[in-house]
Amino acid sequence: MKILIRFIFLLLLFAYNPFDLQTHAKDRLIIKADQNVSPIPNTLYGVFFEDLNFGADGGLYAEKIKNRSFDFPQNFMGWKIFGNVELKKDGPFPNNPHYVTLKQSGHREKKTGLVNEGFFGIGFEDDKSYRFSVWARTLSETTSSIIVELIDPSTQDESQVMASGYIEVTDSAWKKYEVILNPHKTVKNGQLRVFLSSDNPVDLEHLSLFPVNTWAGQENGLRIDLVEMLRDLNPGVFRFPGGCIVEGTDTASRYRWKNTIGPVENRKLNENRWQFTFSNRSFPDYYQSNGLGFFEFFQLAEDLGAEPLPILNAGLICQFQNEDENQPSMEELQEYIDDALDLIEFANGDINSTWGRVRSDMGHSKPFNLKFIGIGNEQWGPQYPVRLKAFKDAIHGKYPEIKIIGSVGPYPEGIDFEYLWKELKDMGIDMVDEHMYQSETWFSQQTDRYDSYDREGPEIFVGEYACHIEGEKYNQFQAALMEAAFMTGLERNADIVKMATYAPLLSHIDGWQWRPDLIWFDNLESFPTSSYWVQKLFADNRGDFIVPFELSIEPSNNDRKLFISCSFSGDECYIVKIVNTDDSPEEVEIIFEDLLPGFYIEGIDHIVLKSADLTQDNSISNPTLIRPISQTFNYKNNDIVKIEPYSVNILKFKKRH
Ligand code: AHR
Repeated sequence: MKILIRFIFLLLLFAYNPFDLQTHAKDRLIIKADQNVSPIPNTLYGVFFEDLNFGADGGLYAEKIKNRSFDFPQNFMGWKIFGNVELKKDGPFPNNPHYVTLKQSGHREKKTGLVNEGFFGIGFEDDKSYRFSVWARTLSETTSSIIVELIDPSTQDESQVMASGYIEVTDSAWKKYEVILNPHKTVKNGQLRVFLSSDNPVDLEHLSLFPVNTWAGQENGLRIDLVEMLRDLNPGVFRFPGGCIVEGTDTASRYRWKNTIGPVENRKLNENRWQFTFSNRSFPDYYQSNGLGFFEFFQLAEDLGAEPLPILNAGLICQFQNEDENQPSMEELQEYIDDALDLIEFANGDINSTWGRVRSDMGHSKPFNLKFIGIGNEQWGPQYPVRLKAFKDAIHGKYPEIKIIGSVGPYPEGIDFEYLWKELKDMGIDMVDEHMYQSETWFSQQTDRYDSYDREGPEIFVGEYACHIEGEKYNQFQAALMEAAFMTGLERNADIVKMATYAPLLSHIDGWQWRPDLIWFDNLESFPTSSYWVQKLFADNRGDFIVPFELSIEPSNNDRKLFISCSFSGDECYIVKIVNTDDSPEEVEIIFEDLLPGFYIEGIDHIVLKSADLTQDNSISNPTLIRPISQTFNYKNNDIVKIEPYSVNILKFKKRH
């Protein structure tokens, strides 16, 4: 009887074991520790930049004045003028000919001047200094003067003026003048006010305001917080200048890199093609000053330690917006091809070459060591391959070492995609640029996408991708989770997938056209999304070689929830990435098979990014809601690692020394 009672007790105990829930399947991950399939290139994880969402002017480019040279088609867009202000058109910079003359308004109590609204206001911080500069001249032999103020328009009393400076204009020839302003208050939506303070009139051109502290102290510089966020992504490749912006809405607005170099005052303005792309988010005042131009892009790539990857117009204007018969003809293609050849010389030519000299005159005598060039962004149909072939012949005729990247259109599948893939392969293009803005279901089903790609090439550049949750185009954790799952597939296939860049990168909270994006900012602050953290975790923990593995799941079923990649890093650790897209935890027994003699694993650094609520993401008011958490554990071969629901896990198995 005693035995029977004991038996029933044990039976009940096993029937109710809280640690043996059905959802806690026991999975086995066997890592083939002595094998490496292929190196993982440094370029695998990179950054895609486009002047979209006010990513350049009003964003990364630290200039705070909109329409600084009065050359927008509506010359005073961004400005409010008062008193006696006259617009003129014979200024010192031929590509930006407009400037203003400020004259007394009559009575001494009256004022003449202008106010600039910046980009959704101008952000100032009370502990920072700002450099105002202007090109100016007097209209006679006597001096003139102006007062420059940073103001807070939300304050109605005298404290509205946060900083004030005085400039005496002494010369009747055009000269650059500067004054440093130190605001006594932090304001997100301030303004700049300039007014005449002398009886004598003055001419003003190219009014500019930068923080004194820019990235690397460069005068025509970049916002430090944003560059630091890019640097922290540890990118291996830096794609610029886009995106659709390369193509333009029409031939006039296509991106021309030659307009973006040389002295900033003389860089030709371009209409930003995102002005009216979305009727619900239209920004008629969105122009490209090109202050952030190709020289600065190359310099930034260098600062980030990333390979520069320019994308050039293929002789086709945005195909979404233009019929085939309106495209530039083949006869007109040479100008586009010359742009590509000249760009390679600008980047790599010695200082005695025409374009190498231009680079050197801009302050970079050493070449930028350009290795890749993209021709076309999102192209389709037979007009593209003929153009691409002409570029290829010309580029490889002169620069056989440059890898050429071709487009297979805006979608990652379908007839147009298949057509271009075949054309590009037959042409022997070096690398194919695939774009994917797809749903969570699509991403979860495509993690094995590249397993079956032809290893003979072309190589793959996943040039734009982001998970767009069905019907909900904004940042949320579920999208980041799906991107992570997909990225395990990129990494496992890094023998053929050589680069991948999430898109778009930057977005101004008040000026976005496209969501989701990787980094959000306003005039003072910025914050990372959970997609940003995924990019960073993968790039920081890339590893140097792909390591094969086997996974067995219990109970096995068709719903995949764990997505895995394994690599070995030269600093002697195995890196296992496990993404759990399911709402239940998983326990994974991790077994290293055939560890090299003398290689003992002593512990695991476990970094987790997770969120129980899939719809959440960081925000300007809660920028750290979702962020990676690190823990360190002891480990013996065959130990079980608990993988939490909805989580991205980086497990670094470190060698005992
Ligand atoms: O990343 C945003 C846009 O998406 C890019 O400009 C374009 O290439 C794609 O359609």
